[in-house]
Amino acid sequence: MSSSPDTIAREVRRRRTFAIISHPDAGKSTMTEALALHARMISEAGAVHGKSGRKATVSDWMEMEKARGISVSSTALQFNYTPTGLANEDPGDEVEPNVINLVDTPGHADFSEDTYRVLTAVDAAVMLIDAAKGLEPQTLKLFQVCRHRGIPVITVVNKWDRPGQTPLELIDEISERIGLTPTPLYVPVGIAGDFRGLYDRRSGSYVKFSRTAGGAKIAPEELLDAQQAAQIEGDAWTAAVEESELLSEMGQDHDEELFLAGATSPMIFTSAMLNFGVRQLLEALVELAPAPAPRDDVDGKPREVTDPFSAVVFKVQAGMDASHRDRLAYMRIVSGEFERGMVVTHAQTGRPFATKYAQAVFGRDRSTVDTAYPGDVVGLVNATALAPGDTLYDDPAVEFPPIGSFAPEHFATLRARSAGKYKQFRKAMDQLESEGVVQVLRNDTRGDASPVLAAVGPMQFEVVTARMLAEFTVETELEPLGYSLARRTDDASSPELDRQRGVEVFTRTDGARLALFSDKWRLQFIEKEHPDLTLEPLVAAAD
Ligand code: G4P
Repeated sequence: MSSSPDTIAREVRRRRTFAIISHPDAGKSTMTEALALHARMISEAGAVHGKSGRKATVSDWMEMEKARGISVSSTALQFNYTPTGLANEDPGDEVEPNVINLVDTPGHADFSEDTYRVLTAVDAAVMLIDAAKGLEPQTLKLFQVCRHRGIPVITVVNKWDRPGQTPLELIDEISERIGLTPTPLYVPVGIAGDFRGLYDRRSGSYVKFSRTAGGAKIAPEELLDAQQAAQIEGDAWTAAVEESELLSEMGQDHDEELFLAGATSPMIFTSAMLNFGVRQLLEALVELAPAPAPRDDVDGKPREVTDPFSAVVFKVQAGMDASHRDRLAYMRIVSGEFERGMVVTHAQTGRPFATKYAQAVFGRDRSTVDTAYPGDVVGLVNATALAPGDTLYDDPAVEFPPIGSFAPEHFATLRARSAGKYKQFRKAMDQLESEGVVQVLRNDTRGDASPVLAAVGPMQFEVVTARMLAEFTVETELEPLGYSLARRTDDASSPELDRQRGVEVFTRTDGARLALFSDKWRLQFIEKEHPDLTLEPLVAAAD
């Protein structure tokens, strides 16, 4: 039976859906595990990094995966969290917990369209940075996507237990390089490498941490007032208070409106490894990050969260199981209640889609999550017809804007090694393109036997060649092309562009005309010589 709008609204209010954006090695896996520990999904951390003296608890972790159908590498990790006074306090079960969805962004160093798409499914992001390294390339790229999509960002400075930069250096770096103003919620007491606790800027009190063996358990916290703190911590406390005053003078206090508008970012200092500051992060998410909100449809009309069911597919994953050729589509619920078994409509084809065979891939039990609400992520198996950006709904009809394709930076031609495999090659190309694995460009000169693949990250090419072989038994040859950027153009400008050296014009499968350039100097030269030509930058996301 469907829930009432009131029930749905309540479910929505207690949900937070976010992703962690970080450069590899900043501590995303360690933090994910620490969050699970604080949400009491696991009793001991250490599965991720057992080797450095912590007790390995892989079995604990795996048991949990088995029992609850989740994993650190899964697409979305869902857990309940009840804010507690202190991390070591039992939250009790009188209060209804918050439901936190942590949507995973691909962890590899390479950058792909997948990463961008995942960020269309979240309402907030946690930008995790290494205290010693500050902003790193992948953090920057991911942050640009958040900015473009208007996703509010909470900044977490991790590894504070190790020597690193000062808070003010990090704050300056973030303000200057990305134009986001950090508004620390806490100031660390003790310099990087000597992490003692956090000065809570809003209450003026001190949260003192104690280490646990190997950082495997929740670190006990003690709440002290300013006087006690000054006595215990002396100069370290004074320094923290002074820093906080300085920040206030510079106007760097949390402001809800500015945060939601993407101008400021609440900042927290943590040690994921020691489990310090993790409760503070969870609480910031619950307190400050927005709950799932209405989403505009293609006509700009909002679909309210309490409207009948609707969802957007943001990721399609195929070939995970070689024996099954399965295709899993992950949808983020936008409105209403999802009940396993309901028959919904696929907006792009108008066809019914039976979720009877669907599987919820997160949650307490892999196969028996029967209901889900806005903000939740559900995996649909055998979803052959679904592609990233597609809409599913229960009447009344709705269609959300496409996720959009992203500015490619890597280009290569692909052909089947054996001409006899051409038919298979075509079929495979269509399939992989429809899943959004790669963009496909064509022009008359090159013909169809060796289309040009365009990708945001070169790893997308590897996925194509590997899957061509594994799933379609087509051996392929990939040849990188000497182009490095693309601009959107039109029919009128194409002939002139085609005449230029270092430029080639293509049509993408969605009909868009793209001109590829060898490098930015070539582009600048042509723009200068031919100011009348249409050359529009491709944005990171097409909305
Ligand atoms: P990632 O998912 O973002 O790639 O990072 P991951 O959690 O794998 O962490 C990368 C490395 O940083 C690991 O060290 C991890 O232990 C360490 N790390 C993560 N958080 C913290 C922290 O708060 N403080 C300190 N000091 N280190 C942290 P490793 O050398 O690769 O592994 P291991 O030898 O620690 O097992």
